[in-house]
Amino acid sequence: MNMMNPDISLSDEIPADETQRQYYYIEKARMYVQRASLSAGRPLTFCVTTFGCQMNARDSEKLRGILREIGYMEASEEQADFVIFNTCTVRENANTRVYGRLGQLKPRKKKNPHMMIGLCGCMMQEPEVVEKLKRSYGFVDIIFGTHNIFKFAELIAMRYETGRRVIDIWKDTDQIVENLPNQRKYSFKSGVNIMFGCNNFCSYCIVPYVRGRERSREPQAILDEIKRLAKDGVVEVMLLGQNVNSYGKTLEHPMTFAQLLTEIESVEGIERIRFMTSHPKDLSDELIEVMSRSHKICKHLHLPVQSGSSRILQKMNRHYTKEQYLDLVNRIRSAVPDISLTTDIIVGFPGETEEDFQETLDIVRKVQYDSAFTFIYSKRTGTPAAAMENQVPEDVVKDRFNRLLNEVQTIAAKTCAVHQDTVQTVLTESVCDHDASMVTGRLSNNLLVHFPGSADLIGKLVPVYLAECKGFYYLGRLAE
Ligand code: SAH
Ligand code: SF4
Ligand code: F3S
Repeated sequence: MNMMNPDISLSDEIPADETQRQYYYIEKARMYVQRASLSAGRPLTFCVTTFGCQMNARDSEKLRGILREIGYMEASEEQADFVIFNTCTVRENANTRVYGRLGQLKPRKKKNPHMMIGLCGCMMQEPEVVEKLKRSYGFVDIIFGTHNIFKFAELIAMRYETGRRVIDIWKDTDQIVENLPNQRKYSFKSGVNIMFGCNNFCSYCIVPYVRGRERSREPQAILDEIKRLAKDGVVEVMLLGQNVNSYGKTLEHPMTFAQLLTEIESVEGIERIRFMTSHPKDLSDELIEVMSRSHKICKHLHLPVQSGSSRILQKMNRHYTKEQYLDLVNRIRSAVPDISLTTDIIVGFPGETEEDFQETLDIVRKVQYDSAFTFIYSKRTGTPAAAMENQVPEDVVKDRFNRLLNEVQTIAAKTCAVHQDTVQTVLTESVCDHDASMVTGRLSNNLLVHFPGSADLIGKLVPVYLAECKGFYYLGRLAE
């Protein structure tokens, strides 16, 4: 789990190198946690709850790694002494949920002297949020943002040392701190950050404001991490970035995403490579070519379209038209015929008319997505779209949303079923939720299949006959 814990003693000077510095604070925090456990007469426990995207999920693994390292044990949210919410603010409802959950923690904190509450993630990068927390949620112990997550141990040590609330938010950073602990959720697959931040400023989106400017990790650091993961039993990696297709542009020695993929492909032990998210404007022919040749890159591409109307796409600052998107889809499909395409769509962007919406329905019909995440436009303060006129009335948006969902689901059920009666390689992920005599695995195209089997299959790639399509998943059996 922890690859690089150097011998650090608290009597030494605080190291200057950031990674070493954090290991120093891990030691320090461990000492405080040990004392607190002694006074409690039991081990202290933690729970990290993640809101939002895969990027946040990966960050939460880093938080868990540090908490384990300093002596906390993992527990359910209801039982944990230290509850951390890793927040998302991409839509207003993600935001509201956090305040609700926070309110529920207050009475527990009164009863448990060892209780601590931490808040981090994208919401904390909004000054209004931090103001509100200071004003009305004084019982929160530690507040930090997306840019200084690597300082978690230091902030915990500070909280113990001072006995006071710690708030540390950075506006931006160009720093990437490597080699800190992390605790993976799955033994056999892992997310791997290849870049942080976003420079695209789609006009509706708050992510560039809360995640900062685009920064790519050095290819060597990525490859070293993936090699370590492979040695540790990981067979599938998911490369993470807000726009992986622009990977490497800002590096000292620039490198394309396709080149990075080719290098990762050669890592022994890695059997499957996934990535997200791809911005259509930056998806190169070189990438299509690499995907068509690769035996490891999964037959799945998440390609958010957002809208089918070129007029709206322009207002969204997406830098492609409906025609360009469709042309891209055609090129991908002719190079990788059995690829599964999924997407994100926003309904009710300011100024969206019924005609614009019809264009969205039309593109959905033309592309025949395997699945689509559909979102109701949410106004994010500070983004250009929030100031646009003609915000679409709620009832109109809801009606469009329902019509779109209906279309998307009908098409998805149809596209999903095309693999019926074939044998596919499946990565077994877990014991089936509903039936302990079955296991659940994932196809290369990201669909799930349940089949009779036991837990010893978990983490293994096995051939499975897809006997019956159930709309969005399959029932199957191990093939010979
Ligand atoms: N970087 C990724 C997406 C990150 S956010 C990309 O560009 O594809 C995930 C999805 O949330 C987006 O694709 C978009 O569909 C949706 N989204 C972002 N901002 C939104 C908003 N203000 N209202 C509704 N949906 C939004
Ligand atoms: Fe948001 Fe656009 Fe960046 Fe995706 S590419 S995170 S939608 S600004
Ligand atoms: Fe949400 Fe932040 Fe991801 S706003 S979608 S958690 S980058």
